[in-house]
Amino acid sequence: MVVVGSYVVDLMSRTPHMPKPGETVLGGPFQMGPGGKGGNQAVAASRQGASVTMITKVGQDLFGEEAIKNFEQESIQTTYITKDEHEATGAALIAVDQHSENMIVVSLGACGNLTSEDVQQAREAFINADIILVQLETSIEAVEATINLANELGKPVVLNPAPFQDVRAEVLKKVTYITPNETEASLLTGITVHDEKTAKEAAINLFNAGIPNVIITLGKKGCYIYDGSDQGRLIEGFTVDAVDTTGAGDAFNGGFTTFIASGLSINEAAKRANAVAALSVTKVGTSPAMPTQKEVEHFLEREQVKES
Ligand code: RIB
Ligand code: NA
Repeated sequence: MVVVGSYVVDLMSRTPHMPKPGETVLGGPFQMGPGGKGGNQAVAASRQGASVTMITKVGQDLFGEEAIKNFEQESIQTTYITKDEHEATGAALIAVDQHSENMIVVSLGACGNLTSEDVQQAREAFINADIILVQLETSIEAVEATINLANELGKPVVLNPAPFQDVRAEVLKKVTYITPNETEASLLTGITVHDEKTAKEAAINLFNAGIPNVIITLGKKGCYIYDGSDQGRLIEGFTVDAVDTTGAGDAFNGGFTTFIASGLSINEAAKRANAVAALSVTKVGTSPAMPTQKEVEHFLEREQVKES
């Protein structure tokens, strides 16, 4: 799998409540770790057994070196990670409240400067991949180059449209799978998504815009799938004790892409990806909270026992 996207350092503080404009809140524990939607999804995929090549850009600084070390520890190929001459490695300021909800400001830094040449340089990795995964947390230029190269080589491409940025309709059409959350699905379609019925409307809208597989993630409710084969369906999520929901979408996407590439049906891939996401919210942090393949298998076995 090739993952094209962001790497940033996550600076996370627990807070009793979200600060209002002008307010300073005395927070709880602070934690720093590897993050960025691209990096998190790459780690999630690798821990589910995918062989992953990461394409991103870091700064010529300590954080950039840490990034490469971290990817190597996660058995992720770093050959195509470039270093920006001017920008520092990006960072995300994350506040997580008592309900384990989060607010994030992400400054992309170097990974916002990913160019279409950076992507094209990795042509060899694309050729060797079964599937390509990209988010919107980098330059639109790099996103478009990724989708175009995948198309040219006949590779399926998963677009996680997070965080929302405008993508041209003709580019969206070239995507094989799209995985917006409720907010992103609303922004993409103009339909306010808040339940199964509105998820279905938005999914059909995206399907009619030319994307053959639409998966709208619905937080702990699971995800809604529309691929034209039936009336669409909800794949229910799992109930767990959440401590930090940051990165749950990344867990889902890394898992989903791995499972699709390994030949599972879209329903089965989504169910397993729901499990990856559920386990990720039981731990603090983003990349470091991604579960292993074994953990997911044990979890699914226990859930099976509960059901029967
Ligand atoms: O999806 C979560 C990620 O978004 C965090 O790791 C943070 O880096 C932000 O970019
Ligand atoms: Na987490």
